[in-house]
Amino acid sequence: MRTQTTLIVGANSEIAKAIASEVINLAVQQLIIVSRDTEFYKHSKFRDTKVIKVKNYQEKTINSVVKSIGQLNTLNISKVFVCHGLLHNDNIQPEKRLSEFSSDNFVELLTANTVTPMLWLKCLVPLLSGKQACKIVVFSARVGSINDNNLGGWYSYRASKAAVNMLLKSAAVELARSAKNIKLISFHPGTTDSPLSKPFHKNVPVNKLFKSEFVAKQLIDIVQKTPLDGEVSFVDWQGKSIPW
Ligand SMILES: NC(=O)c1ccc[n+]([C@@H]2O[C@H](COP(=O)([O-])OP(=O)(O)OC[C@H]3O[C@@H](n4cnc5c(N)ncnc54)[C@H](OP(=O)(O)O)[C@@H]3O)[C@@H](O)[C@H]2O)c1
Repeated sequence: MRTQTTLIVGANSEIAKAIASEVINLAVQQLIIVSRDTEFYKHSKFRDTKVIKVKNYQEKTINSVVKSIGQLNTLNISKVFVCHGLLHNDNIQPEKRLSEFSSDNFVELLTANTVTPMLWLKCLVPLLSGKQACKIVVFSARVGSINDNNLGGWYSYRASKAAVNMLLKSAAVELARSAKNIKLISFHPGTTDSPLSKPFHKNVPVNKLFKSEFVAKQLIDIVQKTPLDGEVSFVDWQGKSIPW
């Protein structure tokens, strides 16, 4: 019998797809996914999955998706995975030097990596507050650690991940008072084979390039073991804390 629900947003991410594939094997879990591209979820193994296709991630859209989830006869949502991440696209490459910093590119990365996850958090918290424990994972990155930044470069991506970490810290302080049932996890998956990391694989030793299936299993285990403690944990794929 399915008694708990997992929600995955930005569900066309390579890592999100691996999480979804794990979750549907758990007899107690129901799955809801949200993405702009839902092709992957047409597979018959996802026949019981509630699939929500969106055009964009503007606040209005996120608000109306959350409203529609609230209206579902949904079982308790116990896990949320916010998987958005943008490092490069046809017009953007991560900066190697200061002279490459661009206001437009920075805003685009900040919107995808920082603003979008925070809009999900803002809109979901009223739905998730209550008695049932709920763990919310937001995908960050080790390069968002200010302490750990010894290499420089990737100005916009690093800053957008550092910013999401700071926002999650503030949210954790507030939720410790107002929604003690919610635990926030800022997660670094390690370098994982996906469209986001593809252009940078040549610098990664083979044993350091993870398959999304491996990362998904690690993360599900970490989420299971992480207690509700009124704080945000910034952890990697091994569950090890990363310095802020
Ligand atoms: N792969 C790695 O090596 C690595 C390392 C460190 C951290 N991370 C982080 O892990 C997370 C998942 O990465 P991944 O490797 O699975 O990435 P991916 O396969 O490239 O997936 C990209 C994700 O970002 C969303 N997205 C792309 N452009 C967006 C935009 N403009 N606005 C809002 N959302 C946008 C997509 O949403 P749709 O579902 O709507 O397409 C999708 O969820 C990201 O936060 C990434 O920064 C990855």
